[in-house]
Amino acid sequence: MNKNILTFDEWAILNKDEGMEKGHYASVKHMTREIFNYYQKHNKKYSLLDLGCGNGWVVRKFKEHSLCSMAHGIDGAPNMIKKAKKLDKNGTYFNENIEGWDNKLHYDVVFSMETLYYFKSPLDIIKNIYTNIINENGMLIIGIDHYSENTESLDWSEKFNLEITTLSSNEWNNLFKQAGFKDIKSNQVESKGEWAGTLIISGIK
Ligand SMILES: C[S@@+](CC[C@H](N)C(=O)[O-])C[C@H]1O[C@@H](n2cnc3c(N)ncnc32)[C@H](O)[C@@H]1O
Repeated sequence: MNKNILTFDEWAILNKDEGMEKGHYASVKHMTREIFNYYQKHNKKYSLLDLGCGNGWVVRKFKEHSLCSMAHGIDGAPNMIKKAKKLDKNGTYFNENIEGWDNKLHYDVVFSMETLYYFKSPLDIIKNIYTNIINENGMLIIGIDHYSENTESLDWSEKFNLEITTLSSNEWNNLFKQAGFKDIKSNQVESKGEWAGTLIISGIK
């Protein structure tokens, strides 16, 4: 198990996943709205994968949306997945390290909240999502609180014992471009005082 997965596995045992759910809720609402609007506009159903799903709370939210035909989650921390499966007995949650995951399924939407900067090469992951996971006209949408401009987040690696890749909002946007995404949108939501907010980026295949 890598250092980040070990840390989050401990967090699950300590019930800190519940704090993340509360803390991320407002920003995730902006992301779910963007997905709902896109599929409502195109009058289409969508399937979704939550990458780094934690205890699966976002997967369960999507399963309630009328246009969502299927929602799955993946997370490396066994105790996060154990909780997800306990809360949603018929749900599909994969306990896998996303770095090196040999995915066989395809989805219209890949959603990811507060996870992409835990990878050594976010570009490799984003390219893999584009090439092997997302269907044509599908969407990748990510939310991240750790990025260069959000100076309050820059000590997290020492503070929380995590291995983090720090990039600016411009650099994150460029990764989407390099992977091949089009119609890339980027904005910061829920900023407050020194806190620069969650950086949300989306792109269409
Ligand atoms: C900050 S938490 C966010 C959880 C959830 N998205 C939420 O908003 O509550 C990051 C999650 O990413 C998972 N994670 C980090 N690196 C991973 C990896 N390489 N493979 C799979 N999961 C990983 C952790 O186990 C953790 O549950």
